[in-house]
Amino acid sequence: MRDIVNLRGGGSAFVLDLSGPTPVIVHWGADLGESIPDGVPASPVAHSALDRPPVQELVPQASSGWRGRPALEGHRSRGRAFSPALVTTGSRDLGVEGVEITMTDAAAGLVLSLEIQLSPEGMLRLRSTLRNDGDDDFTLQSLSTALPTGLGASEILDLTGRWCREQHPQRQSLRQGTWLREYRHGRTGHDSSLFTAVGTTGFSNRSGSVWATHFGFSGNRVTSVEKTPTGPALIGNAELLGAGEIVLTAGESYETPLTYASYSARGLDGVTDTFHRWLRSRSTHPATARPVVLNTWEAVYFDHKLDSLVELADRAELIGVERFVLDDGWFRHRRTDRAGLGDWYVDEDVWPGGLASLIDAVRARGMQFGLWVEPEMVNEDSDVIRAHPDWISGAGFGRTPVGWRHQQVLDLVNPAAFAYILERLDALLNNNAISYLKWDQNRDLTEMGHTGAPSAHEQTLAAYRLIDELRQAHPEVEIESCSSGGARVDLGILERTERVWASDCNDALERQTIQRWTEAILPPELVGTHVGPTTSHTTSRTHSLSFRAITAIFGHFGIEWDVRTLGDSELLELSEAVALYKKHRALIHSGVAVHGDLVDPAYLLGGSVAQDGSEALYSFVCVATSFDEIPGRVGFPGLDPDVRYDVTVIFPTATSPYNQRSNVGWIPDGITASGRFLAEVGLPMPILNPEQGVLIHLVSSLEASGL
Ligand code: GLA
Repeated sequence: MRDIVNLRGGGSAFVLDLSGPTPVIVHWGADLGESIPDGVPASPVAHSALDRPPVQELVPQASSGWRGRPALEGHRSRGRAFSPALVTTGSRDLGVEGVEITMTDAAAGLVLSLEIQLSPEGMLRLRSTLRNDGDDDFTLQSLSTALPTGLGASEILDLTGRWCREQHPQRQSLRQGTWLREYRHGRTGHDSSLFTAVGTTGFSNRSGSVWATHFGFSGNRVTSVEKTPTGPALIGNAELLGAGEIVLTAGESYETPLTYASYSARGLDGVTDTFHRWLRSRSTHPATARPVVLNTWEAVYFDHKLDSLVELADRAELIGVERFVLDDGWFRHRRTDRAGLGDWYVDEDVWPGGLASLIDAVRARGMQFGLWVEPEMVNEDSDVIRAHPDWISGAGFGRTPVGWRHQQVLDLVNPAAFAYILERLDALLNNNAISYLKWDQNRDLTEMGHTGAPSAHEQTLAAYRLIDELRQAHPEVEIESCSSGGARVDLGILERTERVWASDCNDALERQTIQRWTEAILPPELVGTHVGPTTSHTTSRTHSLSFRAITAIFGHFGIEWDVRTLGDSELLELSEAVALYKKHRALIHSGVAVHGDLVDPAYLLGGSVAQDGSEALYSFVCVATSFDEIPGRVGFPGLDPDVRYDVTVIFPTATSPYNQRSNVGWIPDGITASGRFLAEVGLPMPILNPEQGVLIHLVSSLEASGL
């Protein structure tokens, strides 16, 4: 067994001391190189405190004197074994990237193993497995990871939201006490934060030290930042278990979801870079160009008619769409959202010839066909629930949970319900040329239960299993995770899906924030972004097409608009936006995501810089009125300082001018400047009204001249 484990990757390190009775975290932060001192000087012992120096245990436990939130909580009958005293009993290298540590409490009959890996991109991943080695049941209450923040940590940043306003940041000072976020949605949740970040004072997009974690799970969970009078603040992540939800019989184990963590010495963009690189390194990461989508939802809603949908497909083809997705409303009884969920048979009245007539028309126009499903849900007004009323998940006692969008959760823990839904989906994919499923999940359930016992844990795993089994049978079908917009965006669901729908809000102004923060963790190719109608259906705001297009381009681009209604100039401008996306998607979907630190909150600058620094695309948008008459100069972050770039404003184009008289003199086109100049001196930006923007393209002069 090694005494010191020094995991290194992506400029960061995770250092453990295994020489004592329990593993101690010496350091999580910047890479320290090869050499770690043999002994780290001990902290002093306070007067009224434990008679030994405090240390940062990998598994904080009350038996070592830890007075904060214990990593492991549980008990045997009548509270026995309530306070485990786990000690290190083994460790095993997991290649160069990781280590597995075993801890045992023989008296309590518990064995805990922890897998810790730090990838070359700097992604730290932790997973714990608890085994009950005793003779009787062990009821698990909680098993969490606790990661210490480093020197100077003083502020907490996380995200919150609601339907149509997901992933909005909130920041606060780090103080004594616990900042606790509990998600009891039975799904990830609209208010779910994609990360919990703690950083040095004023840490920003481009500066400061940041310690950030993400919990890769789509069920109930709890995150915390805990500062006690002893030691640094700890960031905690755990599944939130219901009463008696996990009872381990003799020999049984419970495995936690993965905690992902990243340290950055260069602000949030460093964390983003680690997550993006790591996600892109997965063998399952989408490798093909992300096709332009047309989704029918905000175009026709439930009004499914073959003629109008074929008309829509005609227009889609003209504009350059590559994937046509038929949304909700195609199956039996589904004329409104009050009925039909669960009856996954093509509605014979609406589609007398099945979906084939539409699918053939779509494919004949050179597009893939995608279909909306919501397999985990049922309406009470459905044939399936009329036949199987007991397939509704709930607390038992004959109580049906309060409705949510008139729907209930199908109890997937019930093998018969699981088999039914798997068969329906499999048949659907066998009988139709479907390349893509928009897999929706549209309700919270706070009382998820199976036969009267809590089942959020099992239900989440069953939903994963359902997707996994379907994928195994149909590996060519891509799946999008949608959940009333962005209520299921996490790395657990992304182990088995190719994209997430960030929000039901297609208002470009709202999307600027939602997407910026979703993309803090997820690379843009995984995030669905659509050009919505001129006047947003969810906010009633009206936006120019250019602003909607500029916003949608930095993601997996699509259209969710009744394009049959477009006039010639709109058609032309939308086609230009589609062409622009196609031209630049390889860059956006492989580049380094960068975000400027602009002092003026009226403006946002974001972009993507090619990994080799040869090219970049930025969007500069105005989101509010400013105190200043002109935006002034803006620096472009992330470029190679020694490369000279040709600068061009590529959108809006000549056919979509933004009519700002005072911008007449503003011509950065044709400017050539070094990355250093562009970062340090910057370029003057145009005068924009709120909800206008420009796309600026930079390409290395050498590339441009073909040298
Ligand atoms: C959810 C989704 C939408 C749409 C509707 C259909 O709200 O988030 O995109 O698919 O369901 O009912």
